[in-house]
Amino acid sequence: MQIERPHPKIGALVSGVDVRSLSDEEWRTLYQTWLDSIVMVVRGQALTKEEFLAYSRRFGRLKPHRVRKTRDPDHAELTVMGIGTRKADGQVNQVIYNRGGHWHTDSPWDAEICKGTQLYGVAIPSSGGDTAFASMYEAYAALPDSLKQRIAGLKAEYIYGGKKREGHELLEPEDRQKPPAVYPIVRVHEETGRTSLYANPHHIVRIQGLSEAESDALVKELTPYMVETPAQYQHQWRVGDIVIWDNRCGLHKACGGYPLDEARVHWRTTIMQDEAERRVAA
Ligand code: SIN
Repeated sequence: MQIERPHPKIGALVSGVDVRSLSDEEWRTLYQTWLDSIVMVVRGQALTKEEFLAYSRRFGRLKPHRVRKTRDPDHAELTVMGIGTRKADGQVNQVIYNRGGHWHTDSPWDAEICKGTQLYGVAIPSSGGDTAFASMYEAYAALPDSLKQRIAGLKAEYIYGGKKREGHELLEPEDRQKPPAVYPIVRVHEETGRTSLYANPHHIVRIQGLSEAESDALVKELTPYMVETPAQYQHQWRVGDIVIWDNRCGLHKACGGYPLDEARVHWRTTIMQDEAERRVAA
């Protein structure tokens, strides 16, 4: 197994391994590499859906995504990203084309914290379509002490698509009215013990205990620390790449910009924390 580091603070590129037949030692190395790097790429895999699901389950419990229309019909825990970029009339379906196109962490609108997301590259366009990642450990570390003090103990509310309800048309009507989920803005990672900023600029609705104007101003003040941190990695996809990212300490976004007449398809799994990890968190 070879492991390259594209950036000292974020990212690991793993090659020379088959995730279907890992030794215990290889698995331990992969898992630790992921925790250390926030986003880990494993190159050159050739998986069936069942094999991708089995490998994803090694990281934690899988949860079907709230967007039901893009779930695989035979495997609810698997979402197929990038299907349906054209509407029946031939126009580009911007909601699908731009899905994930804002800096965000996955599922902060869910009442249980989303541990990781894993994507497998099925069809990759000839240009564009990268995914960018940013370290929220480094975002927190870069905050001035006065700002760290101001946000200590604050909690934020999240709903799917944030204040503008962006992408709500992907949800079924019964899933559009779910109550907001609440998380502390500063969180200590259950497994690494490191502190990060968790303030998702896309899905946030408000910071509790502040007026709407104060909350908006604080999100605006925090956002550059999150999205302009130099601790970023931008992944250029190849077919057969598996990329897993840690939603507890990183943001990501789909960069778009790929040819509209080319397919960009990924299988995706949503990985939750198990009970033991949640007990550590409590
Ligand atoms: C996502 O945000 O979950 C998907 C990212 C991507 O399509 O690159």
